[in-house]
Amino acid sequence: MDEYFDVRCIDCGQSYGVNEVLYTCSRCGGLLEIRLDAGKLSSIVDTRLWCRRPFNVWRYRELLPIFDDSKIVSMGEGGTRLLRCRNLTRIIGLENLYVKCEGDNPTASFKDRGMTVGVSKALELGFKATLCASTGNTAASLSAYSARAGLKCYVLVPAGKVAVGKLSQAMVYGAKVLAIRGNFDLALKTAIQLCLEDSGIYLLNSVNPFRIEGQKTAALEIFDQLGFNPDNIVIPVGNAGNISAYWKGFNEIRMLGLTEELPRMHGVQAKGANPLVKAYRSMSWVIEPIENPETIATAIRIGSPVSWKKALRAVRESGGSMIDVSDEEILDAQKLIARMEGLFVEPASAASIAGVRRLVEDGVIDRDEVTVCIATGHGLKDPEIVLKICESPIEVDPNLEDLRRILMI
Ligand code: F0G
Repeated sequence: MDEYFDVRCIDCGQSYGVNEVLYTCSRCGGLLEIRLDAGKLSSIVDTRLWCRRPFNVWRYRELLPIFDDSKIVSMGEGGTRLLRCRNLTRIIGLENLYVKCEGDNPTASFKDRGMTVGVSKALELGFKATLCASTGNTAASLSAYSARAGLKCYVLVPAGKVAVGKLSQAMVYGAKVLAIRGNFDLALKTAIQLCLEDSGIYLLNSVNPFRIEGQKTAALEIFDQLGFNPDNIVIPVGNAGNISAYWKGFNEIRMLGLTEELPRMHGVQAKGANPLVKAYRSMSWVIEPIENPETIATAIRIGSPVSWKKALRAVRESGGSMIDVSDEEILDAQKLIARMEGLFVEPASAASIAGVRRLVEDGVIDRDEVTVCIATGHGLKDPEIVLKICESPIEVDPNLEDLRRILMI
């Protein structure tokens, strides 16, 4: 099956074999992307077969560049709910709003889609150790999948800036956790250098194109769940891998001849960490990194997103947009979706709800357009934020009189 895929540089077009260990183009330093030969693949893709398989990442087996089935490390990731949110219609004004609940994944974020493919690749290539830099979720996911694969795992996180749920996951799965004195951008730079120098450690940040292959399956699932592609995707953006992965997935659906339609991709950043929004607004094709990014949504507290070029391409090619939202808007949206729809999502994920609200207000999204917000991670990842923004429990003696007085019944 490996003749169906190759690795290409998105800048200079240099082609590499799909089993070469590379994180960037060795000719020009550009980002790499896995290309599939749609012509060849459409002869073996049978969507009726897909429907008979379990609803998870591996339903789309033919589109995933792992060649040795015995190396697949899976926990049934993917197959997440696509929930219609009718109660939000009143507030947001959209008739057809859906939320893709990526917190349903085994470690409670979308990262598991990328890790099932990335860690399988690590095994296939014969690595004994994995490494990533992370704002938390990548670390949690890589730790779990590496544990299951029997691989050593090292994670670098920005000291003091990782939500407690994510940190405890990486710790319990047995990863070596290093708290870097510096932000995520510095941690990632160090991680890349380390893996380039020590060829025995496999880097599993989203600069690794195999991660993107797993993550693209969320787009295929949305197509399967709706029966068509939506008009809009609204998605939080940090290091910019996920928006690129969705765009790749939707394009592959089209390349396979399953539909002609493509959604518009709308990326949402936090106001204090918005280099892509700035580039989009100034119609620039380069980003100016933000030296000291700051936001309550620590998952997307990133000033120099590694996949910025792929993200700008996704937004521009699709006719979408990039917007930023304040921390206040993010926290309001987190409470709103919890209280109106019963969905508990982490702050970075709530950014997509805050974003869709603004996009409708600004007239970028029309009221009748089918729109899917991506809720990238579960709310329990970051319980401390809730303790800060919600009313505290009221301590009370166990007698009816006191209860009635407080509850006013
Ligand atoms: N939402 C959540 C919950 C995330 O954890 C991340 C990224 C994003 C959105 C943004 O996705 O980076 O592909 O644009 N978290 C990374 C991490 C950076 O280390 O866990 P992106």
